[in-house]
Amino acid sequence: MSEQKTRPVRINAIGDRLARVDAVEKVTGRATYAVEHQAPEVTDPLHVWLVQSTIAKGRVTFVDSAAALEHPGVVSVIDHTAAPRLVDTSDRELAILQDDRVGFHGQIVALVLAETPEAARQGAALVEVSYDQEPHEAELTEHNATEAPEKVNAEAATDTDEGDVDAALADAEVLLEQTYRTPYEHNNPMEPHATTAWWTHEGDRPLLSMFDSSQGVHGVAQTLAPLWGLETDQIRVRAPYVGGGFGSKGVAHAHVMAAAMAARTTEGRPVRLAVTRQQMFDLTGYRTATIQHVRLGAAADGTLSAIHHAVQEQTSAIKEFAEQTAVPARMMYAAPHRRTSHRLARLDVAVPSWMRAPGEMPGMFVHEVAMDELAEACGIDPIVLRERNEPELDPETGKPFNDRRLLDCLHRGAERFGWADRPPTPRATLDGDWWVGIGVASATYPANKMPGNTARVRSLGDGRYGVAIGGVDIGTGARTVLTQIAADALDVSTADVELELGDSSLPAATVAGGSSGTSSWGTAIAAAAQLFRADHGSDPDPGLETTASAADAAVADDKAYHSFGAVFAEARVNRWTGEIRVPRLLGVYSVGRVVNPTTARSQFLGGLVMGLSAALFEEGYRDPRFGHTVTRDLATYHVAAHADVLDVDAEWLDESDDEFTPMGSRGIGEIGIVGTSAAVANATHHATGVRVRSFPVTADAFL
Ligand code: MOS
Repeated sequence: MSEQKTRPVRINAIGDRLARVDAVEKVTGRATYAVEHQAPEVTDPLHVWLVQSTIAKGRVTFVDSAAALEHPGVVSVIDHTAAPRLVDTSDRELAILQDDRVGFHGQIVALVLAETPEAARQGAALVEVSYDQEPHEAELTEHNATEAPEKVNAEAATDTDEGDVDAALADAEVLLEQTYRTPYEHNNPMEPHATTAWWTHEGDRPLLSMFDSSQGVHGVAQTLAPLWGLETDQIRVRAPYVGGGFGSKGVAHAHVMAAAMAARTTEGRPVRLAVTRQQMFDLTGYRTATIQHVRLGAAADGTLSAIHHAVQEQTSAIKEFAEQTAVPARMMYAAPHRRTSHRLARLDVAVPSWMRAPGEMPGMFVHEVAMDELAEACGIDPIVLRERNEPELDPETGKPFNDRRLLDCLHRGAERFGWADRPPTPRATLDGDWWVGIGVASATYPANKMPGNTARVRSLGDGRYGVAIGGVDIGTGARTVLTQIAADALDVSTADVELELGDSSLPAATVAGGSSGTSSWGTAIAAAAQLFRADHGSDPDPGLETTASAADAAVADDKAYHSFGAVFAEARVNRWTGEIRVPRLLGVYSVGRVVNPTTARSQFLGGLVMGLSAALFEEGYRDPRFGHTVTRDLATYHVAAHADVLDVDAEWLDESDDEFTPMGSRGIGEIGIVGTSAAVANATHHATGVRVRSFPVTADAFL
């Protein structure tokens, strides 16, 4: 294997509307998901059901499994006294059943293994758990979110402070000072989380194999191996097909460990563990609620002098997760005086995690509503306000942007949306019983490309090539766009590429997350293809292969790489009932070259719909008295349904970011949700004159 400098790929298949290469497998039901595999080694599995804590904090004093064990089909019950031991128990989310402590309501306190899923479920209901309960704290308030994490998003500074924010705010001709609240949100990919696991031996080396619904098979192996005291190559994780993730499958959660642990007790018999939709609300991560304090100081013409964005949010007492909510405020607009901060409440609750555009989504939701309020306070158009605050250089790093085309997105969207006809004052248009308004918001997302990706190219003869990388297609179309990239990198047709992915026995790849998959894996594929051609020429013998990682995976450090977008929404609010409809939603994006317009459009539309859903519906509720999540299915946790999604469209600027990747692409998975909720909220304000600052925006605000 070698490290290869990559050259730009000659564009041919890239940019085509290639139909998904796995479309037939998917629509005919032949695509196999995590608990559907029928391979010989996973036939006749035992089924695992989770027993979950009914207290928020305390200790398990006794697990009475007698009744469960008498139930027909139940094979065993594993509690903390009997569970296999891990060598590293420092990660209290993953190190389940290692002691008697309970850290949140819904934590796994026992596993039931049975011959059928029904018997396992009934068995779990028959397990009686006794507890010593301790006082808990499960509610985020302005008073308890006081702790500064060391970093946010594991890498960014918790606080920033430049210039003299307080003096600039005191001198500002226009001052906006508001507090906003965003709710708990729960990822709900179509395929609930699930794992099939089994243990074998190679001599006296134990091997753990899994089919796991995961965004990163290598990551799961790398995370679990040290906890078991194994080398990474003793764990093989496969995820050939995944029914969505949205961040919730980006890292291994406790159920993956539960499956591995249950399988450890069965002498080689495989186990299947399917997390229910309800259990997902407890165990597979969620977006923290936030309380966001924003102060903007500006001249009368809207030129910002100061931005202060102070965020309060929540983590879990058993494991820290700090959402980087104020991070986009650091680079979005010019202002000489700027301060951002994050403070956490460390609560006795489940561990929050990634949910599509973690940080950018709730941060820009609030920041872009605040900008709309500032435009109103200055009496200027919201697009003009953004023009006046367009920075020359990245305000955070002082570096030039690679290609900042926010204003191009705003102007193109304004033209398509008919912005010029927008009445300058709110509550100006009544159409029958409906107040009508339009709103805008900016979008941004960092361009992420991860080091540590390796691809393999093999000649199969007859001009055909096998290309392998251990990334995962979570439904985004990665298998298809990587086929296009590989075809162009090898200068062959897409029909001559056989792409393999979704297996940790394939070359190393980073997570399908942070909108980084296509950039990271595609760059490695380009590197391997270029080296293959250099080594073996254009007519290689079958069986020749080359493995390479991209030496220049980390881009040149002299620029700030971001994508941008502009979202426009029309809202209609019923004057009698407050019902909100969004008849039109448009996103215009600058994301570098689009590898496949069909799959890209799906990503943007999905992001826009998710942003619409967050603006109007999504709100998780936790009962602070017991610490449990009350909204735990799609009846009580509302999401946008088909009837809520009307005319939604996305387009993108024609461009290529040749400095960022050999394909010219920059990543598209998350930007569609960023800013969208703010555009919808701003449109409801323009329609009605009512400003909502506690999200989601619901009918009662207008009555
Ligand atoms: Mo995304 S939340 O980085 O999977």
